[in-house]
Amino acid sequence: MGAQDRSREILQLISEGFVLVDTGFTVLEMNAEGERIDGRPAAKIVGRSLWDSWPNVKDGQLGHLLREAMHDRRPVSFEHLYTWPDGRQAWIETRAYPSRDGLAIFFRDVSSQRETEEELRRTQSELIHASRMSAMGAMAATLAHELSQPLTVVGNYVNSARRLLQAVPAAQARDARQALGFAATSTERATELLKRLRAFVAKGRTETETHDIQTIVADASVLVLPHAQSEGVEIQFRLDRFAKWVKADAVQIQQVLINLIKNAIEAMRGAELRRVTISTGLSPDGQIEVAVEDTGAGLDEDIRRELFTPFSSGKDKGLGVGLSISRTIVEAHGGTIEGAPRDGGGAVFRFTLPRATPPA
Ligand SMILES: Nc1ncnc2c1ncn2[C@@H]1O[C@H](COP(=O)(O)OP(=O)(O)OP(=O)(O)O)[C@@H](O)[C@H]1O
Ligand SMILES: [Mg+2]
Repeated sequence: MGAQDRSREILQLISEGFVLVDTGFTVLEMNAEGERIDGRPAAKIVGRSLWDSWPNVKDGQLGHLLREAMHDRRPVSFEHLYTWPDGRQAWIETRAYPSRDGLAIFFRDVSSQRETEEELRRTQSELIHASRMSAMGAMAATLAHELSQPLTVVGNYVNSARRLLQAVPAAQARDARQALGFAATSTERATELLKRLRAFVAKGRTETETHDIQTIVADASVLVLPHAQSEGVEIQFRLDRFAKWVKADAVQIQQVLINLIKNAIEAMRGAELRRVTISTGLSPDGQIEVAVEDTGAGLDEDIRRELFTPFSSGKDKGLGVGLSISRTIVEAHGGTIEGAPRDGGGAVFRFTLPRATPPA
């Protein structure tokens, strides 16, 4: 068998359509895969002009590129939606390689590939949309939840201030001023919360920087300390100084810690021992892990299954959004969060955050 016959045989075997044309674009050869993609036998195409066999190529961009390839003696490739004269359509990827006496044109049907890519893109954008929507919904719910308490307090103080001022006697003016002072503090807290939540929603994504996790833990603890003290809860720390630097949005992680500590305090009402332990360390996969342990009621199987489901609460006045928001935040950071019963009673909630390289 001569070298030419051997090449011809190989071209029959390859899984791409193949057409050889001379410098005048007359088709010299077409392989079996070419017949399959096109739907006509080679005998109907060989010996005729390429432009006659594929009229829709001639005046389109592909025709232009093929003439350019022939003229400039450089390879070209092109993907387009081809329409056959009978109306059939397919995405065809074409590559043409010039030689001294013509063009070797390879082509394949990439329709199903394109469909898969298209489907993937659609699914991805739907997913992003859905997770953003559920995060927004959860945010709106926290907003209502977190604001209702301080605003009720404001209302009560303002009402009693009004009553006090009606009664007038100068001796009571001092009490009135004090009540209004409390009202002002509560309003500031509500305003600050609103500001943070608005920033979170507006960003729509998490902006992480390198932070010391110990500082984040300390800042969150300061915010819940008054609440812990009034509930007779002791807060302990076990911080690993070798697990320090995290890539995180500090305000958001404070929010997660506040949610977990508040849950812990609420779970310990009526317990003998009321102790929250916050610890940091390295997780087995090298991330930074933060754990909040309590000595409260613990987690039974039913509660455990629904922990992170929005609006599911085991409490009379609970909204059931604290943990679902915490999960949204932790996952936006690339971490995970889970709750489990603690050895010796109570519960432990652990979450991970990506480790950062120490700042210079
Ligand atoms: N430390 C814990 N110990 C025992 N149960 C817990 C603990 N943390 C959460 N839970 C259970 O999980 C439920 C969901 O918690 P989550 O914080 O999401 O909602 P919530 O505390 O009920 O309401 P909110 O979010 O409004 O504070 C709680 O109602 C409680 O039943
Ligand atoms: Mg909660």
